[in-house]
Amino acid sequence: MASHTAKLSEMLMQHTPGRALQQAFYTSAEVFEADLEAIFYRQWLFAVPACQLDKPGSYQRLKIGAYDVIVLRDGSGEIRAFHNSCRHRGSILCRVSQGRVAKITCPYHQWTYDLDGRLLWARGMGPDFNPADHGLKPVHCRNLAGLVYICLADAAPDFDAFAEAVSPYLAVHDLANAKVAFQSTIVEKGNWKLVWENNRECYHCAANHPDLCRTYPEDPSITGVNPDGVFPETVEKHFNRLETAGAPSRFKIDQNGQFRVARMPLLDGAQSYTVNGKIAVQKRLGRVPFLDAGTLLMFHYPTTWNHLLSDHSITFRVNPISPTETEVTTSWLVNKDAVEGVDYDLKNLTRVWEHTNDEDRRVVEDNQQGINSPAYEPGPYSASHEDGVMQFLDWYLSRMREAHAPVAIAAE
Ligand code: FES
Ligand SMILES: [Fe+2]
Repeated sequence: MASHTAKLSEMLMQHTPGRALQQAFYTSAEVFEADLEAIFYRQWLFAVPACQLDKPGSYQRLKIGAYDVIVLRDGSGEIRAFHNSCRHRGSILCRVSQGRVAKITCPYHQWTYDLDGRLLWARGMGPDFNPADHGLKPVHCRNLAGLVYICLADAAPDFDAFAEAVSPYLAVHDLANAKVAFQSTIVEKGNWKLVWENNRECYHCAANHPDLCRTYPEDPSITGVNPDGVFPETVEKHFNRLETAGAPSRFKIDQNGQFRVARMPLLDGAQSYTVNGKIAVQKRLGRVPFLDAGTLLMFHYPTTWNHLLSDHSITFRVNPISPTETEVTTSWLVNKDAVEGVDYDLKNLTRVWEHTNDEDRRVVEDNQQGINSPAYEPGPYSASHEDGVMQFLDWYLSRMREAHAPVAIAAE
């Protein structure tokens, strides 16, 4: 293990800025495990849209690396997360991925827990047994304006700076009053970093996303990270128009690079991600002041990017499965009172991003296959189109270097 760590810290030091990573970062089991340890087991992770847990007892089971977690809405309406492991002999408690329960009863010996995690009942455990010592182990959990995040670390990193920065942007979307119109989960046969690298550039869009390109600009000044903060005049006008009308829009990026939020215009006054560019849902979700308000782009590494529109919102969750497999779950959120077939047509609502996801799956899988070849060597990124990819890699490499700093030798 020590030699693996030494090798990884060497690889981290050897990385050439402006280029893709070496093969092992996308293929090796050791690096995958190190990614889980240094990133997924430490950072805040997007879990579910809160509206998906619509009633007390509604739960979602999530597997993240070796962890198995239940996220649920308790009897008082609060969203909580627990490890999906019984405090008796460790059996999983929830076997299916989603459901609704009045109490959590272990399938093995029926120890029964309240929705707040307290152990309520355990048969035949004797007079010295104290149920209070055997409640479910909690997982850090925050509900950010209708988006639920969890953290598996014992001591979670700060969440407040992110929450404070993005809450004003999210407020007008009113995600707490949404419902899930549709959810899709696909597995892309590619490393999770390839999924992100592909997400963070639109260099590939014109050739791969015919539907998306009807409404989404491939212009890197809109889709990139703009470290200098200078935007074309049309974008400045768009920011001013939206902010004057009460919808925070100006580009904001975390100083550590973990998240970015910005409300960017769509092409030619398009309103939403539909084939004809018009809104997909007549009963709109939120209070966005104009139909052509563009899309609120929000990413938060390592698990989520989002598109929040004037009529509906779409959340994406990235979950690494193996060195070469990544699960991507997409949720289309609409006003909770919108009626399918009346206020929206489900195919029209989901078509563009269902196609886009499938097209992205294909390019990520092609990318992985080419990287698997011994002939692969990291090539250069485009400075004008792939600054977002470099920004993602900077964030990734910084976290990995923090976790795998070469051991300092005290010579003096
Ligand atoms: S392992 Fe859960 S009740 Fe025994
Ligand atoms: Fe794409």
